[in-house]
Amino acid sequence: MNSLINYRVEGNLALIGLARPPVNALGQPLRAALLDAYERASANADVQAIVIHGDSGLFTAGADISEFGSEASFAAPDLPSILVRLTQSSKPLIAAIGSIALGGGLELALACGYRIGEAKARLGLPEINLGLLPGAGGTQRLPRLIGAEPALDMMISGQPINASRALQLGLLDRLADSAETLLDSARAFAAELLASNAPARPAERFAQPAAGLPADFFASFRASNEPRWKSRLAPRLVLAAVEASCRLPLEQGLAREGELFRQAEDSAQSAALRHVFFAEREAGRIPGIDADLPLRSIEKVAVIGAGTMGGGIAMNFANAGIPVTLLEQKAEALDRGLAQIRKNYEISVKRGKLTEAQLEQRMELLQGTLGYADLADADLVIEAVFEKMEIKQQVFRTLDEVCKPGAILATNTSSLDVDAIAAVTRRPQDVIGLHFFSPANVMRLLEVVRGKATAPDVLATTMKIGKRIGKIPVVSGVCFGFIGNRMLEPYNREAHRLVLEGSTPAQVDGVLTALDLNMGVLSMTDLAGVDVNFLVRDGNRAAFANDPSYYILGDELYKLGRYGQKTGRGFYLYEGRDRKDDPEVVEIAERVAAELGVARRADITNQEIHDRCLFMLINEGIQLLDEGIALRASDIDLVWINGYGFPGHVGGPMHYAETLGLDTVLAGIRRYRDELGSHGEMWFQPAPLLERLVAAGKTRIEKI
Ligand code: 3HC
Ligand code: NAI
Repeated sequence: MNSLINYRVEGNLALIGLARPPVNALGQPLRAALLDAYERASANADVQAIVIHGDSGLFTAGADISEFGSEASFAAPDLPSILVRLTQSSKPLIAAIGSIALGGGLELALACGYRIGEAKARLGLPEINLGLLPGAGGTQRLPRLIGAEPALDMMISGQPINASRALQLGLLDRLADSAETLLDSARAFAAELLASNAPARPAERFAQPAAGLPADFFASFRASNEPRWKSRLAPRLVLAAVEASCRLPLEQGLAREGELFRQAEDSAQSAALRHVFFAEREAGRIPGIDADLPLRSIEKVAVIGAGTMGGGIAMNFANAGIPVTLLEQKAEALDRGLAQIRKNYEISVKRGKLTEAQLEQRMELLQGTLGYADLADADLVIEAVFEKMEIKQQVFRTLDEVCKPGAILATNTSSLDVDAIAAVTRRPQDVIGLHFFSPANVMRLLEVVRGKATAPDVLATTMKIGKRIGKIPVVSGVCFGFIGNRMLEPYNREAHRLVLEGSTPAQVDGVLTALDLNMGVLSMTDLAGVDVNFLVRDGNRAAFANDPSYYILGDELYKLGRYGQKTGRGFYLYEGRDRKDDPEVVEIAERVAAELGVARRADITNQEIHDRCLFMLINEGIQLLDEGIALRASDIDLVWINGYGFPGHVGGPMHYAETLGLDTVLAGIRRYRDELGSHGEMWFQPAPLLERLVAAGKTRIEKI
């Protein structure tokens, strides 16, 4: 038998063990081996029941994602046909689910008449996260097994459920106590089924999956969710497929699912989300650092500064069960910080996301202190004090005195030079930047800023701990703003400038949200604070001293105390959470433009807004790649998707540039360089790497 399957016959039972590490992805070779093994068991007269399981425990993570978009995806034997074949078995088939059954993996289990799972197993249909829908019968078989509503929930959320919930829903027939006893329990289950002459497949539990649901269930589901879906295709296709399961006989429903699946697979949105899936896995690989490099052990963490960021950072570690010492200068600040953390957890309790007991457990992991001596045994210290070089350097001098050798010393600075901070210690190799995003307990991006002296094991250890606390860590080199904020600068600059030239904030933001960005950049500035933006800019004035109009509108709003949402006025007017256009901003723009001699135009099109904002964002990203600040284009995409609300189904700015065409982006930049007078001449300079890529006929962004 093929090495992809461990096939055994034990008396009247055939055991088919999927053996394609790491996750038994159901690519063509494994599919062929599975079908082969099934036919063999079917044909063996001694075999009366068949158990399909993961040979090393883990059942399967579903279809092989790397096959999508290629011939291999439906190459014979294709998964939907294999599963139809399995459902025709005259012998009971039992799926023994260890660890995970996801996507096509769960669909494989659904094609079996019976399912047993270990207590820690997770079962889900996460296809929607890849811009897909379940395409091997899941949209038709799951509603018939557990009813349309819970089935739809699983597919729309893409979130796996745990084994006890699966048992409750009837998705599992049995629970095994543990991974170790799973196979024995499956054997016992098979024996019971045979002893009771159980049918190869029990009757469908929900012959009418929508029975009991209101007649307008699907219409109202669509209506209430569509605004949230924006232009995403996959949720709409999932809904159509589940609806079909309630209207059509199984065979026709499966055919309909197949059509919808192909539509999803062929979509640019799914290609973008598949790119993101692999980008997330790639980000952990750092050239020159071996995967086997021994890492430092992180059991105790300390955070300095219990303000907005420090508190959120500390919560991340407590959430992962790691004890944290939180240091402040004064007792009041410490009490305030700890009280805020408790308040945040209480909100989670109110929302049912945390129990009271979990809240207390987490608070117990957080120890406040006013003395550096309590940091002596910390394995990782993260500084989140005020953004002032002198203060940070003083903190690091002290850390150098008190921390144990080998402790990792990290700064959460957003704009200061990590190397200059490291330089005040006698151990710059142990210093690194860990740039969390606000709110730090929520945002998934973590820029891991590698200083020029940072040791490889310090980098690798922080990447690992970043993952452990649920972040998406991305390596950045040292530069002003690192990857994310440095790219934000030209993007936001064009947005400000467009308002100066005659657009309204709502028009600029509208173009960006039409692309499904969570927020337009001017609304984002209002949220982050026009004042915060001003202060960061103020620390870097020399870089744009030649341009009197540079972010001039932001400077004017700052002078007027229009700091954004927090003061109720910024680029917009705010009443509570409601945002309104403010004619006064237009008046300010008119006045400042007149003072600077900037011509205002009534003919700024949405296309111009799109191109100027996004091409400048893309251009800066390509420049960062060329400078080696970013290791790869896909890392830049992750930064923008997880830190700045760029939609995953557009794939991040670098992937988006590739879909637009690099030549189109370059031509646009050159065009505005020529058309925008001195502003164009000053700022619309194509990144040399972009020019080289286009000259070489490349369609992908890579360093050449
Ligand atoms: N196809 C191909 N490769 C996969 C894969 C899949 N379905 N799932 C995981 N892998 C690969 C990863 O790329 C990674 O490879 P690498 O080591 O070369 O980078 C390796 O397996 C391990 O994955 P992770 O690093 O993500 O390991 P974790 O332990 O953190 O997570 C996991 C494991 C929970 C299985 C996670 O990988 C995951 O969520 N995978 C995707 C599951 C999924 O979306 N399944 C549905 C696929 S679509 C489908 O089935 C369509 C069907 O309806 C027809
Ligand atoms: P904050 O003002 O809310 O908190 C700073 C805290 O540090 C205060 O509680 C203060 O009492 C304490 N502190 C100051 N000096 C100290 C010292 N010497 N020892 C101990 N505690 C001290 O500021 P915030 O927003 O939390 O920012 C902290 C750092 O995080 C800054 O470097 C900032 O640039 C960075 N950052 C901020 C982001 C944000 O959105 N607020 C995002 C990413 C990074």
